[in-house]
Amino acid sequence: MLVDKKPDVCVLGLGYIGLPTAAVIARSGCKVLGVDVNAGVVDTINRGEIHIEEVDLDGLVQGVVARKMLRASTMVEPSDVFVIAVPTPFDKNREPDISYVLSAATSIAAVLKSGDTIILESTSPVGTTDQVRDLIAKLRPDLKIPGIAGETPDVSIAYCPERVLPGRILEELTNNDRSIGGITPRCARKALTFYKRFVRGECITTDARSAEMTKLVENAFRDVNIAFANELSMVADHMGLNVWEVIRLANRHPRVNILQPGPGVGGHCIAVDPWFIVHGAPDQSPLIRTARNVNDGKADHVIAQASAKIEAEPKMIIGCMGLAFKANIDDFRESPAKKVALELSRRFGSRVRIIEPYAAELPAEFAKTGARLIDIDSALLDCGMLITLVDHDAFKAIPLAERTNKLVYDVRGIWHDQPDVSPRKHLRLVG
Ligand SMILES: NC(=O)c1ccc[n+]([C@@H]2O[C@H](COP(=O)([O-])OP(=O)(O)OC[C@H]3O[C@@H](n4cnc5c(N)ncnc54)[C@H](O)[C@@H]3O)[C@@H](O)[C@H]2O)c1
Repeated sequence: MLVDKKPDVCVLGLGYIGLPTAAVIARSGCKVLGVDVNAGVVDTINRGEIHIEEVDLDGLVQGVVARKMLRASTMVEPSDVFVIAVPTPFDKNREPDISYVLSAATSIAAVLKSGDTIILESTSPVGTTDQVRDLIAKLRPDLKIPGIAGETPDVSIAYCPERVLPGRILEELTNNDRSIGGITPRCARKALTFYKRFVRGECITTDARSAEMTKLVENAFRDVNIAFANELSMVADHMGLNVWEVIRLANRHPRVNILQPGPGVGGHCIAVDPWFIVHGAPDQSPLIRTARNVNDGKADHVIAQASAKIEAEPKMIIGCMGLAFKANIDDFRESPAKKVALELSRRFGSRVRIIEPYAAELPAEFAKTGARLIDIDSALLDCGMLITLVDHDAFKAIPLAERTNKLVYDVRGIWHDQPDVSPRKHLRLVG
């Protein structure tokens, strides 16, 4: 039984990334110990259950826990490979906070032995893997550390970012290509051997700093492109144009592909990671910084637009459709939809209804605002105005016949493409 045996792999941090990763590694035949500082998370996983929403994850975790290939603990144990997947937020000054990573590395140092491999998967500012290496070197002077010891090192340290899409994590964990950056080429080769066990996508080795930057660049690229669409939506709004129409037509150009606007950019990746680049090179990154500000400012624009409309209809019940940061998931972190819905709830209290099929109850911040969580059918009955903040499939599927005579602020443009949408019947606040 695994319970009595040393694990092959230890995954630190059992959240949206760590838990699916631990389960996929366990499925590949490795004995995995999942470690989390949250005892509730550990207990849930040891019961074969999960604490996050992700397609097919429940069955996978249940299976690998039942077969004793995965168990969880609050304590790190000796292992051959350590994978760090803990949070890397930014602080109130938007400076990266790598304290969780360093704390995880400290707990690994206590059990590290010659031959082991440490892989950092958390999205990290450039140079974090070097900092992990330096910390390990300080805590374990008995071990030869890569990049410091001239001789063959005792342990390997590498960086391998995650680029999965929530809702498709299990599929993308195995099928996506991966960049594997070693502190030294030898470290990269060691990590590559590990990933080959469960990754079908191409694994490309590089140095740790390039791999760290690659992940940040991917998210900054998305952020800048979304900022263009969001800025366009505000420009179109100012000019009285329908932004969805303009984008649809512009995208007929063979080399133009404008993304879709929304209430901003959310999640704890695209809305956070570009700041890591800005922090690392503040004078060289005006475009990346501006894109961040444009996307953050879009939520304020939506709040102002919606507030003006709500004030003009003092008797109307308002339905805010969605809190998640993107469609069809239950993740509300850094969500601009939640920011808009919360501010409207604070301003208009008991007139506001929240429709979020992925929430069993409203987040704590909504307490005392007077806003209530209701389902789609109740919203179609009670609300005179609908504000689409998230493009959940359940919202897109509402037929026109059920929402005629509603005022619609279609922030996500989810009903724009339906051929039966009549602009005369719908309020077309396009921004
Ligand atoms: N969620 C995504 O879609 C996604 C995608 C790519 C990259 N990432 C990155 O992956 C990392 C993890 O993100 P997440 O979404 O899984 O976070 P999460 O908040 O869902 O989970 C992190 C877990 O780590 C635990 N933890 C904190 N400190 C710990 C420690 N010292 N030891 C053990 N456990 C600890 C927390 O209790 C939590 O359960 C972040 O750097 C994130 O930016 C996330």
